[in-house]
Amino acid sequence: MLRWFLGLIPIGLLLPLVLAAGANKVSSAPEDLRSLYKRPAQIPFPASNPYSESKAKLGQTLFFDPILSGSRTRSCASCHSPSLSWTDGLPLAIGENQKPLKLKSPTLLNIAWIEPLGWDGHFRTLESVAFGPIGSVSNMNSSEKLVIERLSAIPGYVKEFNDAFGAGPITKEKVELALATYERTIVSGEAPFDRWVNGDDQAISNDAKSGFALFNGKARCSSCHSSWLFTDNSFHDIGVARASDEGRGKYFPSSVKLKHAFKTPTLRDIARRAPYMHDGSLKNLNAVIDLYNRGGVNRPSRSAQIVPLQLTETEKKELIAFLDTLTSPAKPSIVPVFPR
Ligand code: HEC
Ligand code: HEC
Repeated sequence: MLRWFLGLIPIGLLLPLVLAAGANKVSSAPEDLRSLYKRPAQIPFPASNPYSESKAKLGQTLFFDPILSGSRTRSCASCHSPSLSWTDGLPLAIGENQKPLKLKSPTLLNIAWIEPLGWDGHFRTLESVAFGPIGSVSNMNSSEKLVIERLSAIPGYVKEFNDAFGAGPITKEKVELALATYERTIVSGEAPFDRWVNGDDQAISNDAKSGFALFNGKARCSSCHSSWLFTDNSFHDIGVARASDEGRGKYFPSSVKLKHAFKTPTLRDIARRAPYMHDGSLKNLNAVIDLYNRGGVNRPSRSAQIVPLQLTETEKKELIAFLDTLTSPAKPSIVPVFPR
């Protein structure tokens, strides 16, 4: 992780300069900005949980296996489905008791680069997430004890754990390490935008190119949706949350700005991930652009970057044309065979 964060610093320093320079001449040389959006060559795996093929394979099997839920009906993939760009198409996630949770299932695309995790950032590492949903009564309604018991009773699983970690009992930590290793391999595919960044001028339309200039200029989007990930890994109130929705402010009660602040989501595969926002409250991208154009709810916590934008109808269309270039072609997903 450290290497990655060091790598981010120059981009973080550059961005305000580029924005300031672009403020007067929005449409000037958008291709110069392209270099800020280049994809990295490698997935960062932490030293505490290095990649191995056997660990990733085990993690994949666990991720898709409903055995992790109390009633054996829901897996991680029920809410983070590869065919829906690793979310579920619902405004709010539905757990085992068929009741909606308070939050929308976020995508797991490029999760290796996202930290902290969760809409309000309460998970510090990817490893620490898994037993959140597993142990939650309203989500997967299982427990550490039940998961270990069930997996340990299946010789195929015992073998897979031994292959990945060496001989020894199955533990909660091993389940966490394997799941996180697999999740880090969930990387967004090459989108038309990436081909354009790499120099193919025909890869996106002229409308989308104008949209990219707006994204980095007049519409201010890139001040938060930055780099190839389209997130600053930070938290903001964009004026969408209901007054009762505290977000990150729950953990920082004295901070004015963190009240109603939620994680900036990636915009990768955005066209395939409706509805939008932490509460699934916006049905489509037109509704998202309209929200930003209005400037959302004006309150002390609202980010200084969120102001009425005065976009023309053409500019709104161009922004959406640009957002559409961030979606990669759908890939067929293969569900692993479960040991039984
Ligand atoms: C019932 C639907 C549901 C199931 C099942 C589920 N999740 Fe999630 N997942 C969510 C929701 C909702 C959130 C947002 C939680 C939050 O912000 O506190 C989330 C958040 C996450 C995140 C953080 C993503 C981010 O961008 O911050 C990860 C990682 C994750 N889940 C992995 C898993 C794994 C691994 C499993 C299986 C062990 C799993 N999930 C099962 C709905 C689900
Ligand atoms: C001040 C930082 C900030 C700025 C500026 C900003 N966003 Fe966002 N964006 C966020 C945050 C934070 C969220 C999640 C808010 C929530 O769920 O409460 C979000 C959510 C979104 C979503 C929904 C993503 C999803 O997975 O649900 C889209 C699409 C989006 N923004 C596009 C844009 C566009 C286009 C612009 C420019 C017009 C823009 N954003 C400007 C921070 C920002």
